[in-house]
Amino acid sequence: MDRRSVADELLEQTIVGSFSRIGIGLRRRVFAWPPFTGGSLDGRTVLITGPTSGLGRAATDALAALGARVILVGPSQDRLAGVRNALVAAHGVDRFPIVVADMGSLASVRAAVTRVLETESRLDVLIDNAGAIFQERIEGPDGIEATFTTLVVGPFVLVSDLLQLLQRTPGSRVISVTSGGMYSQRLHLDDLEWRSEPFSGSRAYARAKRAQVALVREWARRLGPRGIVINAMHPGWVATPGLAESLPGLYGLIRPLLRTPAEGADTIVWLAAAADARVRSGALFVDRRPRPFDRIPTTRLSATDRRRLWEMVVGLSGMPDPLPER
Ligand SMILES: NC(=O)c1ccc[n+]([C@@H]2O[C@H](COP(=O)([O-])OP(=O)(O)OC[C@H]3O[C@@H](n4cnc5c(N)ncnc54)[C@H](OP(=O)(O)O)[C@@H]3O)[C@@H](O)[C@H]2O)c1
Repeated sequence: MDRRSVADELLEQTIVGSFSRIGIGLRRRVFAWPPFTGGSLDGRTVLITGPTSGLGRAATDALAALGARVILVGPSQDRLAGVRNALVAAHGVDRFPIVVADMGSLASVRAAVTRVLETESRLDVLIDNAGAIFQERIEGPDGIEATFTTLVVGPFVLVSDLLQLLQRTPGSRVISVTSGGMYSQRLHLDDLEWRSEPFSGSRAYARAKRAQVALVREWARRLGPRGIVINAMHPGWVATPGLAESLPGLYGLIRPLLRTPAEGADTIVWLAAAADARVRSGALFVDRRPRPFDRIPTTRLSATDRRRLWEMVVGLSGMPDPLPER
């Protein structure tokens, strides 16, 4: 390992160092990241969920600046229109279609996919970014606990139903935005929807994020060499409206250490645009480098657990298995 990698690994051991703005500042300097090449996404199509706020908005701005056609997916027509208008004003062209979808409703996700398939002939990058923390246990219109639908089952249906379009697009990529909070939680496969245990919004969120990453690994295994590369990333701690609203205590405490949304979105943009980001699939990235899936041995999910999770999510989605085992 070279000296830069040793420094990076030491930083990764310290959660505050790695997750805060200190982490990205040091890594940017140590590895001398080159700027993204202007026009590198000309002619490419990116779909992003949650482009109206925080990380999604910062990633959208950066991807649009690199030339991408960006499909904006979110629950509010008005908020999406606000982002599209700002992008059209900034770039002078309208390559920013709007698709209304609530990731917490499978019917809504399916309707969004139908719209995308009607208008798009390629999909180079799909970014599963939308996220929220629910303070109480509620069930969405599909009768599934809302955190698990919004962060896991909804995105699973989105990727599954867009799989053929992704497969037809050479070099396509799927990026899942997860959270370092997942390191703190073990997934309870016998109670994914908090039917037995007293509900905790922040723990439900962290477990759903762990499930999301486990599914990324399972997607990568099942896709094999089919051309689509799928990876997860976590952005560190980022000053976004989402963090301020859902975890105000943490936000106040670590405010000076928070990354800007552009810093938090850097690895999303890198995974979407950089040639060397396509060499791995089924990995978890932080600051452009693959990282461990666990920090505590008891949170580890075996390959059998991941297969079981996949089958449970397929069951909840109500659709046939998109990539059945042979
Ligand atoms: N901020 C952090 O420190 C941090 C750390 C780790 C991971 N993350 C992850 O990063 C991602 C973005 O978070 P953020 O901090 O940028 O949050 P944010 O500012 O609250 O933005 C969340 C975005 O998700 C959209 N969204 C929420 N619920 C949705 C639903 N049911 N269907 C479709 N879209 C929905 C929102 O759309 P509307 O505005 O239209 O409602 C908004 O565009 C999330 O997955 C989050 O878990 C954030």
